[in-house]
Amino acid sequence: MTLARTGILWFALVAGGLTSAGGLAPDPRGDGASFPDIADHFKYGSIGTEGRVGLPYWIWRVLPEVCEDKLPERPGRGYERLGFLSDGAPHGRPIGTSYTPGRVGLVGLNCATCHTGTIRHAAGEPRQIVLGMPANGMDLQGYARFLTACASDPRFTSSTLIAAIQKEHPDFGFFERFIYRFFAIPRARDGILDRAKENAWFDVRPPQGPGRVDTFNPYKVLLRLGIEKDLTVGTVDLPSLWNQRAREGLWLHWDGNNDSVEERNKSAAIGAGATPDTLDLASMARIEEWILDMAPPAYPRERIDAALAAAEHRFTVVSARAATTSARSTSARSPRWRR
Ligand code: HEC
Repeated sequence: MTLARTGILWFALVAGGLTSAGGLAPDPRGDGASFPDIADHFKYGSIGTEGRVGLPYWIWRVLPEVCEDKLPERPGRGYERLGFLSDGAPHGRPIGTSYTPGRVGLVGLNCATCHTGTIRHAAGEPRQIVLGMPANGMDLQGYARFLTACASDPRFTSSTLIAAIQKEHPDFGFFERFIYRFFAIPRARDGILDRAKENAWFDVRPPQGPGRVDTFNPYKVLLRLGIEKDLTVGTVDLPSLWNQRAREGLWLHWDGNNDSVEERNKSAAIGAGATPDTLDLASMARIEEWILDMAPPAYPRERIDAALAAAEHRFTVVSARAATTSARSTSARSPRWRR
């Protein structure tokens, strides 16, 4: 089966049809679907997931406050308690969230949700955000569960949510209130709850935990492959995106099922909620190009033990020579050994 396993369809929320209002002025907070700087674009840009799976911006914005008690007991504020990382962008959204303006602006997720993590040089030191790193603290299943818990709560009503929105944004106009009250809020609630029904398989499998995601079960639901008949678990660690150029032509994904960088990228975007129609190919092309040579941070020099490193270097050179000799003799015996 060639279907690439990068699925995260389970957090799709179905808000389609709420967007589209062309010719909008640029957002004063510097927000939008696309960013000139590629690192900003990776962190906050849209890959085309919002039309089908986005949440109306203002609902998304106030939910952590309205349903604060439904967030896990983890450090941070709001969505940070689910592992989202904030780096103080002027628009106020955390890394890994995208935004498309429109009659109802929508928030979706992007590549950085799963492919940006943090390191500390020592315990107690501040965290450093590293783009392209596995999102080691990101609790995607927790995000889906949080939204479900909130949508199932009696507080998820137009009155409560609009009151919370007006507190944050006193200029929330009459027309916006109307659209939110009669369309955006009821539709978002139904979308979240429908998705929760599709995610019933969550409850008969171990929790996925931060830094991990079940990559294949969402596709079984999407393609109606009879998920109720099996209990298999497809949870994997989120991987890094660095140095894709060196990986072109290699069989990747944890189970080596895909040898095309482009297909891995596109299937990831579709897994994140884009459809072949909504997939933003220009945005994807920028990211694809960038991750070809995106490098991890250098290992801190001061931590390298020079004597051990020299010994390791001698060992590596000797082993590499031995491996080359053995590969040559193996391929001479069996020409099909190499692709
Ligand atoms: C919800 C989480 C999630 C999102 C969003 C996501 N990915 Fe991934 N990505 C994964 C997981 C999990 C894997 C490993 C899948 C496997 O091994 O089966 C992966 C693997 C990859 C790989 C292969 C890495 C390797 O070297 O094996 C690439 C390339 C990739 N993703 C690119 C992207 C791009 C580009 C985007 C945005 C368009 C994106 N991903 C969005 C979770 C995600």
